[in-house]
Amino acid sequence: MQRPFYITTPIYYVNARPHIGHAYTTIAADVIARWHRLAGRETYFLTGTDEHGSKVAEAAAKAGLTEQEFCDRTAATFVQAWENLGIRNNDFIRTTSPRHIKAVRKILDAMRAAKTADGQDVVYSDYYEGLYCTGCEKFLTEKELVDGKCPYHRTEPEKVREKNYFFRLTAFLPTIRARIESGELRILPEERRREVLGLIDQELGDFSLSRERVTWGIPLTFDDAQVAYVWVDALSNYISAIGYADDREMFDKWWTNADVVHLMAKDILKFHCLYWPAMLLAAGEKLPETLFLHGFFTVDGEKMSKSLGNQIDPNDMVAEFGADASRYLVLTQYPFGVDGDIQASRFVTQYNSDLANDLGNLVSRVVKLIQAHCDSKIPASFGKADRLDVLQQIAAQTAEAAYAHITEFRLHAAIAEGLTLCRATNKFFNDTAPWKMAKAGKFESLDTVLYSCCEALRIISVVLWPVMPAKMNELREVFGLDESGLTLDDATTFGKLQSGGEVKLAKPLFPRLEKKKDKPDAGAQSDPNDKGSPNEDGLLDISEFGKVQLRVAQVLTAEKVEKADKLLKLQVDLGSEQRQIVAGIAQHYSPEQMVGRKVIVVANLKPAKIRGIESRGMLLAAKSKDSLYIVTPDGDLPPGSGVS
Ligand code: MSP
Repeated sequence: MQRPFYITTPIYYVNARPHIGHAYTTIAADVIARWHRLAGRETYFLTGTDEHGSKVAEAAAKAGLTEQEFCDRTAATFVQAWENLGIRNNDFIRTTSPRHIKAVRKILDAMRAAKTADGQDVVYSDYYEGLYCTGCEKFLTEKELVDGKCPYHRTEPEKVREKNYFFRLTAFLPTIRARIESGELRILPEERRREVLGLIDQELGDFSLSRERVTWGIPLTFDDAQVAYVWVDALSNYISAIGYADDREMFDKWWTNADVVHLMAKDILKFHCLYWPAMLLAAGEKLPETLFLHGFFTVDGEKMSKSLGNQIDPNDMVAEFGADASRYLVLTQYPFGVDGDIQASRFVTQYNSDLANDLGNLVSRVVKLIQAHCDSKIPASFGKADRLDVLQQIAAQTAEAAYAHITEFRLHAAIAEGLTLCRATNKFFNDTAPWKMAKAGKFESLDTVLYSCCEALRIISVVLWPVMPAKMNELREVFGLDESGLTLDDATTFGKLQSGGEVKLAKPLFPRLEKKKDKPDAGAQSDPNDKGSPNEDGLLDISEFGKVQLRVAQVLTAEKVEKADKLLKLQVDLGSEQRQIVAGIAQHYSPEQMVGRKVIVVANLKPAKIRGIESRGMLLAAKSKDSLYIVTPDGDLPPGSGVS
């Protein structure tokens, strides 16, 4: 009997709305949990929200709400976002819930009562003086500052002196090192393991376990003038949700006797790999088996940040691509574990090629032939067909290979197994050309080929189910299957599908998506992000780009357009001629700022009418969600100069 499997995500701060970074880890955990369930393992998947600390109190005050109201509101957006993404977590833990508070108080008591091996108190009181960043919820060292400021929040930390209770971390580091080195505590990937061992070598100090200045937190059991340090509070969620406070049976099942995996990005390594194991050792509980710290990603090459406005809202992705395709797209951008880039600009192209084409189209083609030649019933297999051996071989090992990847956290490789089978089935279908068999009256061969395609698709529906559960259920319904036969075991033999059942496909599994077109309005006229008409792989031919004539122009006059907040009407000098251009830049530039400015104009556009005013050209501008900057040549060139 395999031990039960318990997987967690970090609990996310409620002072931000869910974004694609949170979604990434949550989807990954959901996929891993679903795979283990497929393999028949008892699995528990926990996520939740981290709701205490001064940042939350500040955000609540700003929003004019009580802290609890504020937390309730944001926690609900996380719950909703995960539901929209098809996340099937067993529980959602909130650090302001009574069960969590009770558990934190219990672990505080346990740590307070604990002694180190040489008989010292694990928790002791002392004064702490330091530089505190409210953004990070932590004290920073002088070394960490850049120009005297927090490198992440770009704000000066406050100098703080307060009475604190300390946790004797130093006493536990040798044990933690030994557990890591023996493999009892697995830290993955290897690079992260080395990082943790390096941190231990740096002779870290003890950490402060409480805060005097923060009020929005859990009061210490032994000094109610202080609240528990947010990380002590937050890390305890992993056990508070599974009965640590008052359900020992549940706790033993999902912690003491389970295989515990904490999943997160590498940003919170120190807390999880050192503080948390030390807290557990002090409290006399076993350690988690595995900590997997995946990489950090940028979006289209840029670091995600609120100020840049490039944080993708998972709900927007779901609205555009659906839950399943969003899950697929997010996880297939780069290998799981390393740092990477999420290429949001290529989502549509990738959706069309992997999902609409390779998978959706295959299903439609197979179903069409079955409807036309097999009375809409799953045909019988007559055992032999050209090239069938190759397909059977690939298909029969796909599910086990994919699951083996999952147990090593190679999510991208597991998904690739499904896609490889899909491409092999396409190849088999194209190479055997069953439509020709139908014409030639070779019905046994036709049946065998079509049956084999259905069978490969059934296996695909299992292998890709953890990443695209709703769509794979739809695929299973095509063959009259439901979730009951959805097991890893079922996917390891080729030939299980019963013949004779009805085949029906109401609508394409993944309808093709159109790339967004230029909108014929002023916004688009000044929007260089909108792409023209890229070909299948999203790239323009050089000849296509060469058609665009760009010229330097100088703005002669500028005025606001009546009743249109966004528009400025410009007269520009293009060297050989003067032109009128209406540009959607009024919220970013005043008429005064524009006059005399050199700009770059797309000069060979057909004239357009914007709010009834003729516009002959577009200005180039760089923009993000909230900002827009006109592109200006870096040198004094005469109007009319070419741009290449
Ligand atoms: N509340 C703490 C965690 C406490 S757990 C006991 C916290 N919250 S957070 O909201 O900042 O979430 C951090 C986590 O969000 C990362 O560890 C990672 O799982 C996810 N990510 C946020 N941005 C991300 C990327 N750009 N790339 C990858 N993961 C991303 O820290």
